[in-house]
Amino acid sequence: MNTAIATSNTSFTANLQDLIEYPKSGILSKVLLKDKNSQYTLFCLAASTEIDEHTSTRNAVITVIEGTGNLNLEGKDIALAPGGFVFMAANAPHALQAKENLAFVLALSEHPPAKKKISQQTIDIVKSTAPILKQQGQKITTRMYEIMFHKYPKVKAQFDMSAQANGTQPAKLATAVYSYATHIDDLEALKAMIDNIAHRHVKTHVSPEQYPIVGECLLQAIQDVLGDTATKEVMTAWTEAYQALAEIFINREQQIYQTAAAISSPVAQP
Ligand code: HEM
Repeated sequence: MNTAIATSNTSFTANLQDLIEYPKSGILSKVLLKDKNSQYTLFCLAASTEIDEHTSTRNAVITVIEGTGNLNLEGKDIALAPGGFVFMAANAPHALQAKENLAFVLALSEHPPAKKKISQQTIDIVKSTAPILKQQGQKITTRMYEIMFHKYPKVKAQFDMSAQANGTQPAKLATAVYSYATHIDDLEALKAMIDNIAHRHVKTHVSPEQYPIVGECLLQAIQDVLGDTATKEVMTAWTEAYQALAEIFINREQQIYQTAAAISSPVAQP
């Protein structure tokens, strides 16, 4: 059972003892609460269950409710027993073994990288390109896919090629790029759009490593289509602006991937 017991906009209390349920074998997890930045999950591990070494991109805290086990954190063994509290820094490798039925609450919290502020100069330049992006947007994005599929053919597998052929996908990307240019200093207004795109990206298995590829091809396409209008200043501003947008998508997609993993896996791992 993995549905969240509470939402973050209403206060609630629960008796953890009442929620503990051990499976015959393996792990049963119950998400107590989750929001954009954190997730609290009750894990109930049947005796002898082992979780292989892995890492989490978020900071994590284990608070043991009952039972005993062993946590190997960054190569060090830590005995888990009721009342035990362990903080695991993001990316610290850890493995776990339940000696007897073991119940603990795992709290995951975001530790977002410090956001780089886009310079006012970049904002002004990017905004000044909005009219031409409105006019030439689809030409630019069509060119960008042409460059990308030629240079990085493997990425084709993630795309619906009929949406390329009929222009739907280039049109969607053009709208997104134009919207970003007009709202680069008011990202709140783009939240719904970013969320939709991020969900689509997760469905199509987009990974952080692919952002520089799209960035390279998009910038090249801007240069190709706009020619002399794409001055050095325009290209520098768009390079900075793209990186900032890519960071927003990567962070949002990471949250969606993590939430999906915690919800869908019957043996969600801390
Ligand atoms: C800042 C950069 C990016 C922007 C603005 C962007 C924008 C978009 C938009 C607007 C959509 C359509 C969403 C919908 O159907 O409602 C989309 C879909 C998609 N994007 Fe991106 N994207 C970006 C980066 C990437 C990257 C790095 C990849 C990796 C290859 C990627 C791969 C995809 C795929 C596979 C789809 C689904 C397309 C399909 O259904 O054929 N995108 N993106």
